[in-house]
Amino acid sequence: MDIRVQSDADKERVETLVCLSFSEQHPGRAVWKLRPGAPVAELCLVASDYRDIVGSLRFWEILVAGRPQLLLGPLAVLPELQGRGFGRALVSDGLRRAEQMRRWSFVLLSGDTQYYQRFGFTEAGEDRFIWPGKLAPNKLLIRPLKRKQLDENLPGPMAILPHIEKAAE
Ligand SMILES: CC(C)(COP(=O)(O)OP(=O)(O)OC[C@H]1O[C@@H](n2cnc3c(N)ncnc32)[C@H](O)[C@@H]1OP(=O)(O)O)[C@@H](O)C(=O)NCCC(=O)NCCS
Repeated sequence: MDIRVQSDADKERVETLVCLSFSEQHPGRAVWKLRPGAPVAELCLVASDYRDIVGSLRFWEILVAGRPQLLLGPLAVLPELQGRGFGRALVSDGLRRAEQMRRWSFVLLSGDTQYYQRFGFTEAGEDRFIWPGKLAPNKLLIRPLKRKQLDENLPGPMAILPHIEKAAE
């Protein structure tokens, strides 16, 4: 298994992979309101089995209480190759890279606790944040980034907004 940063040549393959892995409603989900522009280039990762790309993970920068933070996802692995550790490798590598960049205090995502708790994610508390649309209960997860502590005294509830400046770039 190889994990590397996505190149321009990989874009089409990544889009196909995400469509194959997710259900049809995927692009209509509220989380896409937080991704109006480009993802963080250094954190667009692809997993390959040395022949072809089989998994993809991207992160977008968002604004939470006016400060830039990270949004994890979409994470996708080809259906026929799921359960072989590609997803785990992508998330672990992505979080390690994000920690090294030292730009953000925490990562948010909308996903299953059962899957993401192994990487240190916990439920964010839906009354602490304002999600830009419908969100199933217990799906908003948070993980602090090493060397930065979660500020427990932040005012709440905090709006989660797209990073518009990034979108304009
Ligand atoms: C979720 C996904 C990325 C995981 O990637 P993967 O390569 O299959 O996962 P891994 O091989 O690293 O890990 C497999 C483990 O995750 C578990 N798992 C996979 N999806 C899960 C889910 N939605 N909820 C809970 N556990 C899940 C498996 O049961 C397995 O558990 P085990 O380690 O105890 O055996 C992949 O299944 C996928 O692309 N799913 C469709 C798209 C999707 O739902 N993406 C996530 C959106 S938040």
